[in-house]
Amino acid sequence: MTSTLPTSAVGTHPLDPLTADEIAQAVEIVRTEKGLGETWRFANVVLQEPTKDVVLASERGGRCPPRQAFLVLLDNATGHTYEVIVDLTRTQVVAWQQIPGVQPRIMADEMAEGELAVKADPAFQAALAKRGLTVDQVMVDLWSVGHYGFADEEDVRLVRALIWFRETLTDNAYARSVDGLRVWVDLNQMRVWRLEDHTGAPLPPQPGNYAREYIPQWRTDLKPLEIRQPEGPSFMVEGWQVRWQKWQFRVGFTPREGLVLHQITYEDDGRPRSVLYRASLAEMVVPYGDPRAPHYRNNAFDVGEYGVGMLANSLKLGCDCLGEIYYFDATLADSRGRVTVIENAVCMHEEDYGILWKHTNGRINQVEVRRSRRLVVSFITTVDNYEYGIFWYFYQDGSIQFEAKLTGIVLTAAAEPEEQPKYGVLVAPQVNALVHQHFFGMRLDFDLDGVGNSIEEINTVAEPPGPENPQANAFYATTTLLKTEAEAQRLADAHAARYWRIINPNRANALGTPVAYRLIPGENVLPFAHPESSLMKRAGFLAKHLWVTPYDPAEQWPAGPYPNQHPGGEGLPQWTQANRSLVNTDLVVWYNFGHHHIPRPEDWPVMPVAYSGFWMKPDGFFDRNPALDVPPSTPAQSHCCHS
Ligand code: CO
Repeated sequence: MTSTLPTSAVGTHPLDPLTADEIAQAVEIVRTEKGLGETWRFANVVLQEPTKDVVLASERGGRCPPRQAFLVLLDNATGHTYEVIVDLTRTQVVAWQQIPGVQPRIMADEMAEGELAVKADPAFQAALAKRGLTVDQVMVDLWSVGHYGFADEEDVRLVRALIWFRETLTDNAYARSVDGLRVWVDLNQMRVWRLEDHTGAPLPPQPGNYAREYIPQWRTDLKPLEIRQPEGPSFMVEGWQVRWQKWQFRVGFTPREGLVLHQITYEDDGRPRSVLYRASLAEMVVPYGDPRAPHYRNNAFDVGEYGVGMLANSLKLGCDCLGEIYYFDATLADSRGRVTVIENAVCMHEEDYGILWKHTNGRINQVEVRRSRRLVVSFITTVDNYEYGIFWYFYQDGSIQFEAKLTGIVLTAAAEPEEQPKYGVLVAPQVNALVHQHFFGMRLDFDLDGVGNSIEEINTVAEPPGPENPQANAFYATTTLLKTEAEAQRLADAHAARYWRIINPNRANALGTPVAYRLIPGENVLPFAHPESSLMKRAGFLAKHLWVTPYDPAEQWPAGPYPNQHPGGEGLPQWTQANRSLVNTDLVVWYNFGHHHIPRPEDWPVMPVAYSGFWMKPDGFFDRNPALDVPPSTPAQSHCCHS
């Protein structure tokens, strides 16, 4: 069911994403003022978010900041990149700057045009013919090339093509890699830049199909399970503002990050208390472990190189949520500056989540139990073969959970008939699913009861046996203030039950201790690539699970603003060399977590969802369990079932 609330009001809040009219206006202003011709592409058209002090001042009754658009332009004729700010209130370009030596994100249109360019290339057609294939039988995916110091790749806007065989349009092409045929595309020229035709492994023998028309028999014992919300959902939406029980936040969306959450507050004693100012997935990196060409280049920066927002699914085409759903559309620009709308890009709904809390007082046979309800805000992005569900969960006890849901199709290579791959796993005959990792880089701009925050690390230690610990059972938690950016570069440590606490040293709870939230790691891992690898130069932020910086609006992207074809060294490792103070200041917490993926046969041909994420939980932010006031549910809502 889809609720019929209005989708979004005209930009009334400084953090509202650009409307379709604003995008069109920004493009028109810059095009006219700068006389841009047909060779120009719009790599990014997005709200220029006002800085925090300006937003907070406007909410306190100050002046409303002007609406501004931030654009990244690429001139295919020169290969030059420009950053532009357009003031929509004054209808003029207010900043125009060439950024030397960078490549903007690969645009969705470039992907589509690039596939056609490869297929139109005579040498490519000849190489296919040698294999007994035609262009109609292949699918061409374009991947970033990375940066390996090859002189001929400098200053060329390159992608490389992965070629897949499919017998029909519904065939799973990722089952049959066309091995040995390597093609690069110059995206400025939009033509094949290099073609190498090596002897490769033959096409794997079997199709790997999963679509409904290939499944001969459904299981038959599934009874209906219906979610009914006869009075509608418990949330309210006004423009981009969401209110759900005691939670309030604003939804945003960018082509790079997809879903962004702004100004998350929890109401306590009638007063909204700030938790996070801005939260998003700011980078993703997916390195593969095969050293052979071309696989060593498989290091996808899905946020910085492709833009998970631009690649978001329209959930109109098949929604994955149950119950009363509210959708936000994503209004974006394509590479020609045309407004493009991803309808139903962000899904929001409520879920029953089992028990919130319970106690049975057996002596008087009194049971107090409350059911947990959580609010889910999510989007799903398809980056070639892989799907990522990006899910935020809000709970009634003040907890926030972030969860990435990984599904889709694992990246494969064709293997020789007798080959036992070292850097991959056979998931079907001659289908080598390559080992890889998925890293998620979160940018968490905390404002815990205000902007003056600090961060602590909590480790649990075992007391040595001795007179203080005669039964050798003792353990206790230690707290260390992380005072500087250098001190706050940390790893998760399950052996120390490590977590971090963001505190506001200026605000005490009823127990007299600073109000705080915990950041609690879930599964995690480090890259296996060595420090001297291209990956670790370009994604140096992955060397640590935690980084903390003082708020600087210019510091948004952990691997730097332009990771595509970039040699690296930018982002968190660079900024934190200043070793700024983190004590009682406005903090941005960067948490990186990794999902390690040695594929299984059961991941084939389409992967059951793998879950990975972390939690943020109040820790003395409230004076007691804040969910005591959740009412008991009525027994009539469920039935007893006796066989
Ligand atoms: Co994977």
